[in-house]
Amino acid sequence: MLRLPSDNYKNMISINDVRKSYGPPECRVEVLRGVSLKIQQGEFLALMGPSGCGKSTLLHLLGGFDQMDSGEIFLGENAIHQMNDQQLTRLRRDTIGIIFQFFNLLPTLTAEENIQLPALLQGQSAPAVRARTTQLLAEVGLSQKADKKIHQLSGGEMQRIALARALIGNPTVLLADEPTGNLDSESSRNVISLLRELGREHGTTIIMVTHSTEIAANADRCLAMRDGNLLI
Ligand SMILES: Nc1ncnc2c1ncn2[C@@H]1O[C@H](COP(=O)(O)OP(=O)(O)O)[C@@H](O)[C@H]1O
Ligand SMILES: [Mg+2]
Repeated sequence: MLRLPSDNYKNMISINDVRKSYGPPECRVEVLRGVSLKIQQGEFLALMGPSGCGKSTLLHLLGGFDQMDSGEIFLGENAIHQMNDQQLTRLRRDTIGIIFQFFNLLPTLTAEENIQLPALLQGQSAPAVRARTTQLLAEVGLSQKADKKIHQLSGGEMQRIALARALIGNPTVLLADEPTGNLDSESSRNVISLLRELGREHGTTIIMVTHSTEIAANADRCLAMRDGNLLI
């Protein structure tokens, strides 16, 4: 049985001396070089740094999408570094929400269906999922667009749908990899203020990668990364 973090975790995430490299032994590239970091429950953290410095790699490890070479990552009581594939799949399904730069919505489904899918996969009952979807559509200001196909939406609208989809499973942690990287500045501001407001309302811990100092200024804390390590 997977133990989920309870409300009294001050440090929701503890990352201890995490190392990760890619490639065959003769030309191995060390991407994360001993990253350590603690993130409090409900904190909104922005991660900045030049392309290739290891930001996405760190998010992938936090989401249990990839294996680290050494080190530890705790999500509440859960030792991610010790989990097998089945446990990681459950952790992702039940605890983690994700938003990507290119939205990753399913084009053949409507806005509403895209939001509902992860909750149905979690096993939430259909009436509960419908009610929650209606609520989330209202929260992201897109009640009118529920029945639209994804290609009928603007970039900003797609990202708001992706945010609702990320929140429907009531994630403890939300990972956002350049969520405004593909949006104009007005849509970016709109999406980011929603991310902050809804994160606060739902008590979600948010880790967001961004290239924009203006976007990062919305976070509670901003950290810079260089060459596989955090500048603290
Ligand atoms: N699956 C992979 N295989 C090989 N190299 C990778 C892989 N993923 C990332 N890298 C390399 O790791 C480095 C860091 O990548 P990434 O974490 O995506 O950087 P960032 O998100 O900061 O731009 C880059 O040099 C990239 O080419
Ligand atoms: Mg990246």
